[in-house]
Parts: sequence; C-alpha cells; structure tokens
Amino acid sequence: MTTRRPLIAGNWKMHKTCPEAEDTARELIRKVSDVSDLDIMIAPPATALTAVFRIIRDTTVDLGGQNMFWEQEGAYTGEVSGPMLVSAGCRYVIIGHSERRQYFGETDENINRKIMAAKDAGLIPVMCVGETETERDAEKTFSVLDKQMENGLKDLTADSFMGTVIAYEPVWAIGTGRTATPQQAQDVHAWLRNFLKKRFGPETADQTRIVYGGSVKPENISELMGLEDIDGALVGGASLKPDTFSRIINYKR
Ligand code: PGA
Repeated sequence: MTTRRPLIAGNWKMHKTCPEAEDTARELIRKVSDVSDLDIMIAPPATALTAVFRIIRDTTVDLGGQNMFWEQEGAYTGEVSGPMLVSAGCRYVIIGHSERRQYFGETDENINRKIMAAKDAGLIPVMCVGETETERDAEKTFSVLDKQMENGLKDLTADSFMGTVIAYEPVWAIGTGRTATPQQAQDVHAWLRNFLKKRFGPETADQTRIVYGGSVKPENISELMGLEDIDGALVGGASLKPDTFSRIINYKR
C-alpha cells in the first residue's frame, strides 16, 4: 500500500479583506514553518489570492482557489479561469463545494467540466462530495455519493484523474459543529476508495487522497487522521484563525 501524503486545507470562504488575509497568512506561516510531513493549502477569497501568495510563496503553504469556471477566457462576467488561478499562484482549486451546489446552482455536470478544466490548467482539483441530512436519514448516502462521483468524474481516465483530491463533506456537518463519527467517516471514505478502485483501478485508488470536511477542529483531528482511509482535512471555520488552524496542522506534535 502506498503511503499517501496527508493534505490539510483551509477554506476561508467569503471571509477576510486583503489586509486581514495578509495578517492571517503571515501568522500562519510562522506557526507551521517546521511542518514537513504533510501538505498545507489555504484558499482565500479570489480578491486576496495575489496578496496572500506574496506572503506564502517561499513557504510550505500552498495556495488554492475556492472555485473556477471551465472556459479559459471570454465574456463570462464575474468568473475566473484555471489559467488565471495559476497566474495568481494557485496550486489547488476547490470544486463543487456544497455551498456552490446549494446557493449557486452547481450541478454534477458543471463540476465535471470544472474538474477537467482544472486538470488542463495544471491545478490539483479538490472535488467535494457529500449528502444532506435528509438524504442520510433516508439512507440514501451511498446512492447520492455514487451519482456525484459517477457524473462528476464522467469521461475522466485513470491518467487524467491522477492527483485529484476527493473531499467527503457531509452537508449536515459543515459549519454545524457536528462532526461525522469516526465510523461514519471511515465507512464513507472506504466506500469512496472502492468506487475509485472500480472506476480507475487499484493503483489510482490507493494513491488518491480522500480528505474529510465538516466541523474539523483541533479536538477531533487526531481521531479522524487515525482512520485508515482519511488522508487529511478540508477545514472551514477553524481555518480562519491561525492559532486554531495551526493546531490542526500540528495535530501530531
Ligand atoms: P467547516 O466547513 O469546517 O466550517 O464545517 C468545512 C467546509 O465547508 O469545507
């Protein structure tokens, strides 16, 4: 079995002006400068990408976009493209976050086009999937995930998928303080890895990082990271404060 290098990612969502983002980035790099055994990414709002990149460029913290459009350029008011994110210093891009699905009408088909465009631009997509509370209660978790994975990854081959990160984010755990239990999270992560195995083969499945998101905090990160199929975390609220986020990143110390 491959040892997958963990990824701890911070999604700042629609928080922080440029000066606030710069301060947060500066403080964060001070606190995580000696971490070398995992990958770290922060995704500030688009307006602060360049400012944050200037601060983190020579550190072990990478930059990520929170979203992108699939066209490279054109008359698409309000959108940013993959090549634009790359030029701003991004290495990653979050795709299909449940808030984008919920508030901005993103569909699995949109997400599929974005994943392909992200890969074409040389970005590492972090593709988010997850069920709502109603779907879980109705025991539809795996059928929902199956549809999101099948349609979101349509037409991708093992080669074109390689490197993509999957983020399991149960919608009922996002911003609610309710984390999935270790058993619930591990069950879904194992299911997702098995999906990847059937779809792309054992080697790709084994190498793919599947991260968990939904109320991750310093108090629950160790337990989550101890689970076999959890390869990191996508952190929202707790990534906004350098102190809290660095405690998550430093969970082993
Ligand atoms: P949360 O958000 O950590 O605030 O629950 C996670 C996410 O939406 O990525």
